Amino acid sequence: MDIFEAIRSRRSIGLVSDEPVSKELIDQILEAGTWAPNHFRTEPWKFFVLTGNSRKRLGSTLAKIEEAQMDDPASETSQKKLSKILDKPFRAPLIIAVAVEPSDNPKAILLEEYGAVYAAIQNMLLAAHALGLGGFWRTGKPTYTPEMKQLFNLSDKGEILGFLYFGHLKRDVHEGKRRAVSEVTTWLTSEEDFDKL
Ligand SMILES: Cc1cc2nc3c(=O)[nH]c(=O)nc-3n(C[C@H](O)[C@H](O)[C@H](O)COP(=O)(O)O)c2cc1C
Repeated sequence: MDIFEAIRSRRSIGLVSDEPVSKELIDQILEAGTWAPNHFRTEPWKFFVLTGNSRKRLGSTLAKIEEAQMDDPASETSQKKLSKILDKPFRAPLIIAVAVEPSDNPKAILLEEYGAVYAAIQNMLLAAHALGLGGFWRTGKPTYTPEMKQLFNLSDKGEILGFLYFGHLKRDVHEGKRRAVSEVTTWLTSEEDFDKL
């Protein structure tokens, strides 16, 4: 698939089949992630491949985090909500949790360490799309909690930046929508143009 076509036609696909994703495809997605640009060659990403019942532990962690916020966890409404959360990781046969572990290199800039991992995530989403898979970048507040850090044994500085849900497509991919480039772009051709910003 042509890169421009891949960029444009990639969509967040929530509905995928239960059919397992082969290791060969997973390896290609991971490899694409590792080719992201990274300043000072810190390669600050970590990937955790969750399949099968490892997804159960992610669900129970998400539920535990939610439960701690609830006024009345024993209520019927709370219990329903918690049971839905437990099922969430089973929406796709494959989840790749992507973390940043910022480098100790004194030159490294934290923001850029995150940027490199975000670029890796986009590479992975595009690779999965080019391989014919559906993908979805999921986060939410529980992603950035100490409990999640602990689950993946990250350092104090480490963070999970996304859960990438992947699976085989069940139906055609919908069209995307974006604002026009002109709405978000300013062309600067002279020094004075900065004064008009
Ligand atoms: C950092 C980040 C986190 C996201 N987390 C979620 C999420 O938790 N739930 C969700 O429905 N979409 C999530 N998305 C996906 C966006 O909703 C999606 O990219 C957007 O709707 C545009 O659709 P498209 O990807 O099909 O172009 C996330 C996107 C980013 C960049």
